[in-house]
Amino acid sequence: METIILAAGKGTRMKSKLPKVLHKVCGKPMLQHVIDAAKSTGSSREVVVIGNGAELVREKISGVEFVLQAEQLGTGHAVLCAKENFSNSAGTLMILCGDTPLVTSDLLKKLSDAHENSKAAATVLSAELPDATGYGRIIREADGSFKKIVEHKDANDTEKNIREVNAGIYCFDIQKLFGALTQVKNDNAQGEYYLPDALTILKNSGEKISVVTAENFSDTLGINSRVQLAEAEKILRQRKNFELMDSGVTILDPATTYIDSEVEIGQDTIIFPNTYLEGKTKIGADCEIGPGTKFTNMIVGDNVQAQFSYCHDSEICDGVILGPYVHIRPGSKISAKVKIGNFVEVKNSTVGEGSKLPHLQYIGDTDMGAGCNMGCGTITVNYDGKKKFRTTIGDNVFVGCNSNLVAPVTLEDGVYVAAGSTITKDVPKNNLAVARSRQTNIENWADKRK
Ligand code: UD1
Ligand code: CA
Repeated sequence: METIILAAGKGTRMKSKLPKVLHKVCGKPMLQHVIDAAKSTGSSREVVVIGNGAELVREKISGVEFVLQAEQLGTGHAVLCAKENFSNSAGTLMILCGDTPLVTSDLLKKLSDAHENSKAAATVLSAELPDATGYGRIIREADGSFKKIVEHKDANDTEKNIREVNAGIYCFDIQKLFGALTQVKNDNAQGEYYLPDALTILKNSGEKISVVTAENFSDTLGINSRVQLAEAEKILRQRKNFELMDSGVTILDPATTYIDSEVEIGQDTIIFPNTYLEGKTKIGADCEIGPGTKFTNMIVGDNVQAQFSYCHDSEICDGVILGPYVHIRPGSKISAKVKIGNFVEVKNSTVGEGSKLPHLQYIGDTDMGAGCNMGCGTITVNYDGKKKFRTTIGDNVFVGCNSNLVAPVTLEDGVYVAAGSTITKDVPKNNLAVARSRQTNIENWADKRK
């Protein structure tokens, strides 16, 4: 089985600069959802027809072949643009639309199995929608067999009352399809070459057309507007949450938990409300994440706790405790059993095992060893207004409160820094560095002032 995915349309109803098929649902472009569903159905090859925003689509989507439809003359014309790509093919061609991100591989499997078992020239997927507005309606013969598809804009009032719609998903015998497509005309309300007309042409030449109806209409929803995009997001998010719960993850409040499609979470991890897990985030087992936490592209070990924190493009190892109010910025690695507390920012830094950053630190461009303790208000001064510099901190370093470490600077193993110091010079192993003016107490000063 080979696949064509139609994705050249502009998506006028989205009112967007971005091509419709690149709008994301659960963190992944809708076209990518469709491609992934095709691949997991056993499609051997996916040809994507692009047009509007073609360059951007090529940039964002990989692992498929592209065909350009320079002018969007309709879905039938779009398929015809890919004719050359299939000149040596035989067997089943599945056709999908790039704007139906909710389609599942189970459903596609059901369609392709039915198609192959029935020996039909074409099989179309239908669905019963509560509101069929905008869709092509399935018109059946008196005996219930397929007659034709009428687009909403071409439908009369009786036809508009039909709630069984064309899901825009089909299986065709490849060579029969291309034979029929060359006969499709554009004498309709939109002046377009409609792909569904190929079904009528095949039927009229004596071929068998099958209809498979989706049990769950929401799997077939097409996205044409931002309202529909939000509906799809809600359905897919719920699907993802249920999938995770079925695999042993606790989600306290699925309605306020936003987990992207590709995210992985280990057993017995608990996700608290108002949490966003995005991109390629991977979380281990027995963690407690949230409330109010956002992880984007994070690799997280087991037994990690994080509250009210935002962490992105970094790694957090086993047993780390974060928050409340921690910001971990890209390029950081937080080793096992580290504790990072209230109002701490870590950027592009490694923090060694068991080190503590309990409150109010900025650690940027730093390599910190194990067993360190940063006093409240420790700041790595990494930027001189032009360039960034690194700070190196050995193992078991103790930095007193409210200290500045002016980079580039190195604190070797076992160093102590007196509270309130501004460190500008390297500190050798096991030294105490004091870098502040001495205190003077002036006797009876207050009395004299009076
Ligand atoms: C289409 C079907 C309709 C079906 C609905 C299901 C036709 C004529 N109508 O309508 O029966 O109920 O899908 O969602 O096929 N595209 C191109 N090139 C073009 C035109 C469209 O690549 O010249 C692509 C679009 O990018 C989109 C897909 O084809 O991904 C469907 O096009 P769209 O305009 O959304 O069709 P609908 O009006 O929704
Ligand atoms: Ca559509």
